[in-house]
Amino acid sequence: MKVDAKELTGQPSPDRVGVSFLHESAELHVTGTATYTDDIPELHGTLHAALGLSQKAHARLLKVDLDAVRRAPGVIAVLTANDIPAENNCGPIIHDDPILADGTVYYVGQPVFAVVAASHDLARRAARLGQIDYEELPAILTPQQAKQAQAGVLPPMQLTQGNARQALLSAPHRLQGTFECNGQEQFYLEGQISYAVPKEHGAVHVWCSTQHPSEMQQLIAHALGVGAHKVLVECRRMGGGFGGKESQSALYACLSSICAVQLQRPVKLRLDRDDDFMITGKRHGFYYEYDIGYDDQGRLLGARLDMTANAGYSADLSGPVATRAICHFDNAYYLSDVQMSALCGRTNTQSNTAFRGFGGPQGALMMEVALDAIARRLGKDPLDVRRLNFYGKHERNVTPYDQVVQDNIIHELVDELEASSDYRERRRQIRAFNAASPVLKKGLALTPVKFGISFNVPAFNQAGALVHVYRDGTVLVNHGGTEMGQGLNTKVAQVVAHELGLNLDQVRVTATDTSKIANTSATAASTGTDLNGKAAQDAASQIRQRLVGVAAQVFQVAEHEVRLGQGQVYVADQTLPFFELVERAYQARVQLWSDGFYATPGLHWDSKSMKGHPFYYFSYGAAVAEVIIDTLTGESRLLRADVLHDVGRSINPALDIGQVEGAFIQGMGWLTSEELVWNAQGKLSTHAPSTYKIPAISDCPTDFRVRLFDNRNSVDSIHRSKAVGEPPLLLPFSVFNAIRDAIASVADYRLEPQLHAPATPEAILRAVTGLRQGQ
Ligand code: MTE
Ligand code: MOS
Repeated sequence: MKVDAKELTGQPSPDRVGVSFLHESAELHVTGTATYTDDIPELHGTLHAALGLSQKAHARLLKVDLDAVRRAPGVIAVLTANDIPAENNCGPIIHDDPILADGTVYYVGQPVFAVVAASHDLARRAARLGQIDYEELPAILTPQQAKQAQAGVLPPMQLTQGNARQALLSAPHRLQGTFECNGQEQFYLEGQISYAVPKEHGAVHVWCSTQHPSEMQQLIAHALGVGAHKVLVECRRMGGGFGGKESQSALYACLSSICAVQLQRPVKLRLDRDDDFMITGKRHGFYYEYDIGYDDQGRLLGARLDMTANAGYSADLSGPVATRAICHFDNAYYLSDVQMSALCGRTNTQSNTAFRGFGGPQGALMMEVALDAIARRLGKDPLDVRRLNFYGKHERNVTPYDQVVQDNIIHELVDELEASSDYRERRRQIRAFNAASPVLKKGLALTPVKFGISFNVPAFNQAGALVHVYRDGTVLVNHGGTEMGQGLNTKVAQVVAHELGLNLDQVRVTATDTSKIANTSATAASTGTDLNGKAAQDAASQIRQRLVGVAAQVFQVAEHEVRLGQGQVYVADQTLPFFELVERAYQARVQLWSDGFYATPGLHWDSKSMKGHPFYYFSYGAAVAEVIIDTLTGESRLLRADVLHDVGRSINPALDIGQVEGAFIQGMGWLTSEELVWNAQGKLSTHAPSTYKIPAISDCPTDFRVRLFDNRNSVDSIHRSKAVGEPPLLLPFSVFNAIRDAIASVADYRLEPQLHAPATPEAILRAVTGLRQGQ
């Protein structure tokens, strides 16, 4: 075998990271052989559960008559809140989330009872037969109503830096107004599902599609009233999570477990798409009131921002989501004097939750919309106004929450994108096109992203891993992260292969399992590879050190003369296969497996003052979008997108580009076509793909240029890479602003379009009509 010279530098094999290996499940995905929870062969005697849902937005339950349900064919058991053995809660932080409604319902779709039957179909049919009498109570359905009533699921939060009041009073210009953005359904392809199998001593083994197995374990244990050591939660992979399975997998995990333990039979609970839409929380829609002061050049002088998130009926993750929104209003811009507040408005809807970006998109969108409006008022190119406000490198570099931006690359990144996208020339061409085109109008926008990486709660930034080397030289890796399509297991396998000098096919990553790694954090906040990659590297490097020690002893050489690479061991002038060294180590009774641990250094956060150093580093990016709209129908289309995104030194460029493309299109869906509509009774009327439009392949721009920015993380992250999962979701702000730019052209860019997100055809048409009528 030919040995790369770089392999002999004393470092482990350099070519297992920074290489576009296929996703470890790519072949399984495309051949339909990847095992999702519902594909696990069912045990004999498996039963199926279904849920009976509230039909009212807010009501007292006067009578819940389940006789017909009990009598329905195939029904084995019916459960209500009274049948929950211990705690009736599946809320992750605040215990305000009943598993089954107890006396009162808080939204249309809230589970009231569960029915267990011989088949999935029979359970669903029976669940429809429940007769519930309600006494209706007043319902709050929008964040505006919640704000007016000062109804919050949590106390309001505040962040103050400098003196915003004074800065606004002395500013030459003020931009004041309100803005709204919609929520968003996660629309994972695999819906919520749990499969629970009873074990001896009242224990239970639960296969669950979840981003947070440890939290599922804990909540199941609390609901059952047993110790966590009696609950094992396992997840091989999810068919997408996107934040929707961070906390919201809990209801299904808890209920299937309760049924399984009570009936001593395996029980599966799988939602169909409509029920998933009706029951589960989504991205928070936001309502904003803003007041921004600026000078003649467009430099931001002061800002006041009041945000109200549509939290839904319970807290869920709304607190952390609102925190991240507050910490991302600044996006890439320095704000000296700012006062922000966020209310997690209590509404009678689904309890909203994590969704890719986790409040960050909602915070930064407001800023990007405001900057465009300021530029239009001043008759300047928005890019010039943005640049003027970018964080500085050595001054103007402190965020409103007091963290110094030490790794700022936004200037060079945006310069490069401006040039490579031909931004100025295309701006000119679009102006010329619009002047000559009465119906079709084009628009262009460049928006940047700066996104803080780490959980805002410092304690969550820890991870564990377990690496086994077997006597044949193959390696099995387990870590606390979960695979949802993002490629985490591939990257972790690359890290371990790199550390042990192995080929990728010698390393296998197994299902996430609470009995292997304890007390894990959710795979969320884009930290999966940062945390679990480091933990796995720690485990693998301990084994490598032991193996090198054995080789040095066997061959009587110094340790630095032993190198591992490409599945071989090089000792002075001899070469032997990895497995032979492993066997020698085994014979010498050297431990061939190891645990590993990682905790992100240097983080602190004071949640009261909302100040500290919450992020290990920032990820950056920017995008240019060119759109065309039809001013007679309101339809829009993204013609071309140029993206330049920073992932530090990529561990796997193909996976990273896939993440950037996916996030871009998903974010574009949020801002353009995906619209959640609740009717006047608080019922979600867009609960299926027939009425809720996620982007299709035909919505992707034919000209889509995604590149990774040549960079290296300035902090000691895993192989100097950066997190990629969420930050690119903010790139399609460029699409939204390009649509606004196209609309503004109908009034010669003199007036500001009245357009909230999402920019659906109806909304675009209204905005165009508004401008044509001079508003
Ligand atoms: N990519 C795919 N294919 N499927 C997903 O569900 N979730 C996103 C992102 N990319 C997701 C995805 C979200 S919300 C997060 S937080 C990260 O992946 C989580 O994984 P990571 O931390 O390993 O990047
Ligand atoms: Mo992602 S929203 O942090 O699961």
